[in-house]
Amino acid sequence: MSLIQWNDSFSVNIVKIDQEHKKLFEMINDLTDAMKEGKGKDVLGDILDRLISYTASHFQTEEDYFQQVKYPDTDAHKKEHAAFVQKVTEFKDDFDTGRATVSVNILQFLSKWLQNHIKGTDQKYSDFLNKNGIK
Ligand code: FEO
Repeated sequence: MSLIQWNDSFSVNIVKIDQEHKKLFEMINDLTDAMKEGKGKDVLGDILDRLISYTASHFQTEEDYFQQVKYPDTDAHKKEHAAFVQKVTEFKDDFDTGRATVSVNILQFLSKWLQNHIKGTDQKYSDFLNKNGIK
């Protein structure tokens, strides 16, 4: 059973972004599986690195679209992205130095943040971007 499962209620009606969100779900599930299987720190660290890097690239995809269409809520949206990157980067630092491990708590935080952000913040741009030709 996956920690986080995609369904159409997460769609923002933009193909590239839906694909990226699906990939992020997959990566959180991969991290969950690796933790449950008792994988070592190197494996977990690699998955975390890929998740952080893919998240940054995904945020950039959205922010490039915002710039392209002059999305009015850009600043507030970017602040949410920056706060998340900071939090996950702090966690990775703690993980690297042995102050934190990949736990159910951190996985639930990642999973909940992503679901709430997609449904609460990302879906707000859907109509505006669609109206400006991004689908
Ligand atoms: Fe899909 Fe605003 O992150």
